[in-house]
Amino acid sequence: MKSLVNVSGSNADYLSKVEIDKVGGGYFSSYEVSDDFIVKSLRGILGCMPKNINFYDLGGGDGFLGERIREFFEENGFNITTTIVDDNVDYLKKAKERGLNVIKSDISDCQEINRPDLVVMRSVNHYNQFHTQRKVLHNCFRSMADNGFLVSQFISGSRSECIAMNKLMNHPLLGRAGNGHSYYVTTEEEYIELLLDSGFSNIEHLGYAKTTYWGNEMLWQRFNKARTEEFLEKNNLLEKRSIEERHRKYIQLSNEIIENTLSHSNNFRFKKNLGGYEIELKFPIIRCKKNK
Ligand SMILES: C[S@@+](CC[C@H](N)C(=O)[O-])C[C@H]1O[C@@H](n2cnc3c(N)ncnc32)[C@H](O)[C@@H]1O
Repeated sequence: MKSLVNVSGSNADYLSKVEIDKVGGGYFSSYEVSDDFIVKSLRGILGCMPKNINFYDLGGGDGFLGERIREFFEENGFNITTTIVDDNVDYLKKAKERGLNVIKSDISDCQEINRPDLVVMRSVNHYNQFHTQRKVLHNCFRSMADNGFLVSQFISGSRSECIAMNKLMNHPLLGRAGNGHSYYVTTEEEYIELLLDSGFSNIEHLGYAKTTYWGNEMLWQRFNKARTEEFLEKNNLLEKRSIEERHRKYIQLSNEIIENTLSHSNNFRFKKNLGGYEIELKFPIIRCKKNK
């Protein structure tokens, strides 16, 4: 086990040995989901892209989507250079094995993003605090080529649903956030404000990506499974009991948060699973442009 500290963003996945291809029932390694994303967000701009495309996937994880996007443009007669920027070295190792360029960096201050014609960010911004999301988008805009496109898919919902998701992700009992870091799910309006503030224009709402379920038990397993298994391996029953107690409290408190939100939400669909809740995520896709 790498360490047991409360850190957020890329680090929490790394320390908890999260395999991004398995998260959300395989959402991030699904051909069907990525094809749908590509059709919704990229097919419409084929006619606007240069023959040689410089493409960056920011927070691109293990490169699954980046590789699909590269194939899509190649099939349509383009030459494309694909670069994945991420802060998780385990994910980048896989991206490199796919033959993609990789940069290990925090995308909020990465200086190596070199004039992309196309930037994609799928399910990345909520890993960052609101002010860091602003930095990410400013940095992206500054680095992009004139007339370049940014396509972003992000977790969202109504104001009260976003507040609930933020409480679930940042709860101290979960062990995901901490050390001055936290996660932040934006409303669609907040995200569009950030894009405008960064200088982007031609903002188009392209509808919603395929959904997946997300919830408190799922979060618990994602950030505590490896740690619990380690205690079991070492036969450390005291730690095991303490984790079980934290688990019980987390599910109880987060169930209350979810029930309170769902009681006045007509947006979220949900189901009960293993004592916790699973909520059907809303995943808007927004495309915008750096106009010359
Ligand atoms: C849910 S995963 C999605 C991965 C990929 N975009 C996909 O759709 O398959 C979010 C990714 O964003 C990365 N990420 C989030 N914030 C980041 C930051 N500030 N700097 C670098 N990587 C970041 C995480 O490390 C993680 O790989």
